[in-house]
Amino acid sequence: MTTAPGRYALDNAHEGAPGMHECLSGVLDTNTTDLLVKYLSIADGALRHDTRTLLLGAGNGSMALKVADEISYGAIVVLDLDTSRIRPEVRDHHQVEVITCDLLAEPLPPGPWDLVHARLLFAHLPNRDKLLLDVVDTLAPGGTLMIEDWGVAGPGLVLDAPSPRTKRLFQRYQQALIAVFADAGNDPRWATRTHAAMRDAGLVDVETHTRARSWTGGSPGCQLPIAVSTELEDRLVTHGLTRSDLDELRHDLTDPRVVLTGNLTWSTIGRTPLED
Ligand SMILES: C[S@@+](CC[C@H](N)C(=O)[O-])C[C@H]1O[C@@H](n2cnc3c(N)ncnc32)[C@H](O)[C@@H]1O
Repeated sequence: MTTAPGRYALDNAHEGAPGMHECLSGVLDTNTTDLLVKYLSIADGALRHDTRTLLLGAGNGSMALKVADEISYGAIVVLDLDTSRIRPEVRDHHQVEVITCDLLAEPLPPGPWDLVHARLLFAHLPNRDKLLLDVVDTLAPGGTLMIEDWGVAGPGLVLDAPSPRTKRLFQRYQQALIAVFADAGNDPRWATRTHAAMRDAGLVDVETHTRARSWTGGSPGCQLPIAVSTELEDRLVTHGLTRSDLDELRHDLTDPRVVLTGNLTWSTIGRTPLED
């Protein structure tokens, strides 16, 4: 079983999707928010007024609550191909509007946007270069774009484990996962291309931050491969893993003696020039 090229490999309709999205929120939201607050020069909780924010491929929409709490009391549009996993408190939030949109086939909601954020989305989309230009076109003068994706984390993905077998298993899982995502049009090099692509698109003050933090067995970071490997099990098997390999790996990832490097997050942020 493979995903049609260009279609997102995971599926929000899968029963494990809410758990996977909660892992992503737990692992990533604080870093994303800290970077946004720093880059937008927001002092001591002083909110920016009337900013319009667009969150692309928002998953469970948790970043909308962070934006509402720490960045803006303006309108926040939360967009996804499948909005069924948006948390109820996000859907009901007075600042938030939820939009269902397939970014491979449909136009972006019209701007101007003061802030656009997309995390773990562009690497999946084969139209990423054109989409970036389209997003930049919707930004207000001085508007900010932040794109975050995962890139290579170096050779030692397992830092500690009671058995060397865990390390081999996890490396085989990572290779198979990259292959499953590649079948669906994912570009694993996109995170390293984002900076130049943003500058080529006319953005200024472009900066890239990279960050990884170790993930201990049983923590949200280790729950993530458990959820993803369960959803993608059939496709991982076509790339060389057995079901018993995956059962064993999932068991190991609940063991607090197992420590992974954690995925390396590349966060690239830039803004459109201000009008003269
Ligand atoms: C890996 S999740 C990341 C969710 C969230 N941004 C986060 O980092 O927690 C990718 C999200 O992008 C959405 N997505 C995938 N393809 C899409 C498309 N063509 N148009 C809009 N959203 C899409 C998925 O439905 C999913 O919710």
